[in-house]
Amino acid sequence: MCGIVGYVGSKQAAPVLLKGLATLEYRGYDSAGIAIWHGGQLEMAKAAGKLQVLRDLTAEGSKLPGTMGIGHTRWATHGEPTDVNAHPHLSRSGRFAVVHNGIIENYQQLKTRLQRHGYNFVSQTDTEVIAQLVEYYYKGDMLDTMIQLMNQLEGSYSLGILCVDEPERFYAVRKDSPLVVGLGQGENLIASDVAALLAYTQEVYYLDDREIVVLAADKVEIYDSSRDLVHKEPQHIDWDVSAAEKGGYEHFMFKEIMEQPESVRKTLSPRLQDGQIVLDDFHIDRERLEQFRKIYIVACGSSYHVAAVGKYILEQTTRIPVEIDIASEFRYRGPIIGPDTLMIVISQSGETADTIAAMREGRALGAHVLAIVNVLGSTIAREADDVLYTWAGPEIAVATTKAYSTQLAVLYLLALRFGQLLGTLPEAELAAAYRALEQLPELLEQALQKREHIQHMASQLYNKHSIFFIGRNVDYAVAMEGSLKLKEISYIHSEAYAGGELKHGTISLIEPGTLVVTLATCDRLVEKIKSNAEEVKARGAYLLAVAVEGDERLAKVADAVFYVPKTEALLQPSLTVIPLQLFAYYVASQKGCSIDQPKNLAKSVTVE
Ligand code: F6R
Repeated sequence: MCGIVGYVGSKQAAPVLLKGLATLEYRGYDSAGIAIWHGGQLEMAKAAGKLQVLRDLTAEGSKLPGTMGIGHTRWATHGEPTDVNAHPHLSRSGRFAVVHNGIIENYQQLKTRLQRHGYNFVSQTDTEVIAQLVEYYYKGDMLDTMIQLMNQLEGSYSLGILCVDEPERFYAVRKDSPLVVGLGQGENLIASDVAALLAYTQEVYYLDDREIVVLAADKVEIYDSSRDLVHKEPQHIDWDVSAAEKGGYEHFMFKEIMEQPESVRKTLSPRLQDGQIVLDDFHIDRERLEQFRKIYIVACGSSYHVAAVGKYILEQTTRIPVEIDIASEFRYRGPIIGPDTLMIVISQSGETADTIAAMREGRALGAHVLAIVNVLGSTIAREADDVLYTWAGPEIAVATTKAYSTQLAVLYLLALRFGQLLGTLPEAELAAAYRALEQLPELLEQALQKREHIQHMASQLYNKHSIFFIGRNVDYAVAMEGSLKLKEISYIHSEAYAGGELKHGTISLIEPGTLVVTLATCDRLVEKIKSNAEEVKARGAYLLAVAVEGDERLAKVADAVFYVPKTEALLQPSLTVIPLQLFAYYVASQKGCSIDQPKNLAKSVTVE
């Protein structure tokens, strides 16, 4: 959601900024712009629409000379996606240019105050207030100005700021919105995430809230809000630039679907050692675990769907009651949690605003927070009591696939380890699940090999207007993910239901030809879901089933069946989801949808 880049060095800045913004396109945006310091002036180009418009406007950046600048892709919040509302925003004299991610909650008050001082506004954005405030406070010292600015702003922000008086330095700061500093050779950068930095450097600084960064070509200084210099160790990012490139695939989503066996292997194998589950840097031992009366899993979107699977498996292995909640609901519900609660938060980006707020609420109430996160150094990773990383590498497609799969893999590790520590999981079951975990990457590969059949079915069914997904137990949890995947990239209306719920209302929507995807991989519930499938079939539904290899029970009712390899019941969701991801992908592809950047969506939802 919105993307920031900033550059200072010896290269022409505009092409570097455009390249960085292209890497951030996946975050979602509807306008883009850049501002460059050149010859004692700030020059700017910005435009509504895709980055290509800005590229054309600036002749790939060549029209804007200068070696220092800031750039932005905007996902509209305050004001429509127009040229004027696009970032950067200039102060009234044009001496300051600002790019901003986040939301300024008190912008209206600040704007009214500035208007009383004679400041006029040209855009409808909250960000313009920041540019004007900088000008209002500036008395020749940018660091002082930044501190005064921070004291005024309420809400979330990461900012890149150019000052016309400073030919060699630009400024950045963050609060509750991601921003990373890239440390190059004779050049330094900022970006909303590391993907945009990888072409230049793998050495980064992660910033804490309210830290101010002063970037010059040969040095980066960080100050706290008392103006004291902060010493930070650079972090090395293991991802190389190819991880954030398509590598011959038509879409990032397909590349990431195909990467799942490897991502899951990377997530599991260092933690499976000689029959033991090893979770390093983990502060929950048996004694602590026994103190937990409740486990609460909180997340958004697909990460919440992982939580939904987690509820079934953690309750089964630990016999501790597990509640799950959507982060935006949790944070305002006055949750009943305390030191006897283990709160698990799940987030690919580690920057989802609602999940961050929920985590902070949980910690404030005394819960022990364990985070399952993909992005190293992200806010959630830094603030949680314990972190387990999903080693999925950068996920670029808006619709998550490999992050979902690696999150599930980490949940399995937790479920097994907790069950072992508490003695609630019989030895034989633990051993079988451990072996199945070792085989999971291989089984994922096998599941992916069946994609031709799925592609064929998608080509037959892509013109449906409404699709239902049904399942029971973990199949219901996976059905939610299958339904979300389909609707977000193919724009087909779809819903997921627990099989047993159909008769309580939804079945009235079934008409001849309605597509119902029936997940039937939970061995002990196959007969039950088969009855539900028969009920919809009797009303004319077209039935697509997902079943495990060797189980022919659904074949008798369904019009077509996607078979997935069989594994231990606990781990089956990892395989069940694969045909659903592929089906969504192929349907969207048939419809010619913008698969990697679906309309209205952003990869990382950093505002509420
Ligand atoms: C759907 C999807 C989203 C995210 C959600 C949470 O394909 O990707 O629903 O799962 O926005 O994001 P994270 O996991 O970054 O907190």
